[in-house]
Amino acid sequence: MKFDELVQIRHSCRKFQDKPVEREKIIRCLESARLAPSACNSQPWKFLIFDDQVKRPDIAIAASSGIYSASRFIQTAPVLITVLADKKGFLSTAGSFLRNTRFYLIDIGIACEHIVLQAAELGLGTCYVGWFNEKAVIKVLDLKKNIEIPLIIVMGYPAASYMETDAVRKYAVSNRRKSIEEITEFNKNK
Ligand SMILES: Cc1cc2nc3c(=O)[nH]c(=O)nc-3n(C[C@H](O)[C@H](O)[C@H](O)COP(=O)(O)O)c2cc1C
Repeated sequence: MKFDELVQIRHSCRKFQDKPVEREKIIRCLESARLAPSACNSQPWKFLIFDDQVKRPDIAIAASSGIYSASRFIQTAPVLITVLADKKGFLSTAGSFLRNTRFYLIDIGIACEHIVLQAAELGLGTCYVGWFNEKAVIKVLDLKKNIEIPLIIVMGYPAASYMETDAVRKYAVSNRRKSIEEITEFNKNK
């Protein structure tokens, strides 16, 4: 699939078939994440994958607990990718401090987009989830203090209701976006 087509068909999927995702496909997504660029090549990410019935339900329930119940669709996803951010890489931390920009979050965003685009190419649906109970998930995973979970990515084969034709998807995605004119200026100061 060509890149422009890929970015047009990718969309968030919040309902999945009850069908496991092949490990090879998950690994291909992670390989794409691995190749992502990052500030000072710090690669401040780690991906914990849950694709079985042992830990995954506990994490999904913890993630969508309390005021985060709107994210209960997480519980139906066959694969959860908890995205861990390590904030302590020295060079990018120094750069972040001087520029007042959290480069590690930019890095994580890029790596995650590699994952979801690769997944789309493989026929998988994904959704970023930022609205989740991070504290509860950190507790279930028993993580160290310097580790954050900025995002969870849910992944699986899209349920029938999400399987529009590519043409319908392209139309829908393109229409939900601001126009090029709204978001860009050539050769102007502002
Ligand atoms: C950083 C980030 C966090 C997001 N968090 C959530 C979330 O918590 N719950 C949700 O349903 N969708 C979430 N989304 C998905 C967006 O709502 C979605 O990408 C946007 O509405 C555009 O729709 P599309 O992905 O179908 O093109 C998130 C997306 C991003 C990039």
